[in-house]
Amino acid sequence: MDVRDLRVLYRESELLHGVSYSFRPNAVSAIVGPTGCGKTTLLRSINRLHDSTPGMRVTGSVTIGGEEVYGRGVGVRGLRRKVGMLFQRANPFPQSIADNVSLAPRAHGMVSRHQVAALVEQHLTLVGLWDAVKDRLDRSPFHLSGGQQQLLCLARTLALSPEVLLLDEPTSALDPDTTEHIEGLVKQLSERVTVLIVTHNLAQANRIADDVLFLMAGSVVEFAPAQTFFQNPADERSRAYITGRIG
Ligand SMILES: Nc1ncnc2c1ncn2[C@@H]1O[C@H](COP(=O)(O)OP(=O)(O)O)[C@@H](O)[C@H]1O
Ligand SMILES: [Mg+2]
Repeated sequence: MDVRDLRVLYRESELLHGVSYSFRPNAVSAIVGPTGCGKTTLLRSINRLHDSTPGMRVTGSVTIGGEEVYGRGVGVRGLRRKVGMLFQRANPFPQSIADNVSLAPRAHGMVSRHQVAALVEQHLTLVGLWDAVKDRLDRSPFHLSGGQQQLLCLARTLALSPEVLLLDEPTSALDPDTTEHIEGLVKQLSERVTVLIVTHNLAQANRIADDVLFLMAGSVVEFAPAQTFFQNPADERSRAYITGRIG
């Protein structure tokens, strides 16, 4: 996945000032930086979530597997199948637990009626939620804990077999056990999916990232392998951020 000179403008102000980098496939890239530096804005650009915000403009290029995300004929529907996203707060649909997993694959014609139950079981098992919910698949997800709801949202996203997974501080509202579980899953998933995870938790980035993209005030300060970023960063501002002197 390549991002070239990506600018995001909201009315008169520029939120991202020409961001460029190439994400390695099947790796975990952590996007870090102080609050308000543009991490969420960057993530949302990748699956065109700004399209529906009046006053928001995006210029530059994002390509996934060589295909331009902002190309003329590109359908947002197809893009959202290819690029899954998880937000800080779990946002299950107000439908049954099973439907949360199967609605989108059914809508995209990815499964036939008799494959639905297996699809639901497979993806709930993948995220480690199956045993907890197998007896209440037709019930509302809103009785689940916050962590379980986030896992359900992850299962829902994975059921579409995305090529790219965008995670926006997915564990910041969760307990340490669920956080550790999700970090393990993310590592495991990165064997077949390109993962971008926004986190303000540097320890988390250090645990799971292969590469780190450090943003400040809408610009890339440093993009480096995680080991380099944490042990021997090229930029003095990276060093200051890692040691807690800024951010
Ligand atoms: N929908 C929006 N409308 C106006 N300004 C926005 C919008 N979304 C983000 N911003 C602004 O863009 C900047 C970056 O925000 P954001 O990407 O959410 O930062 P981060 O995720 O790094 O904390 C902030 O100054 C924020 O106020
Ligand atoms: Mg954010």
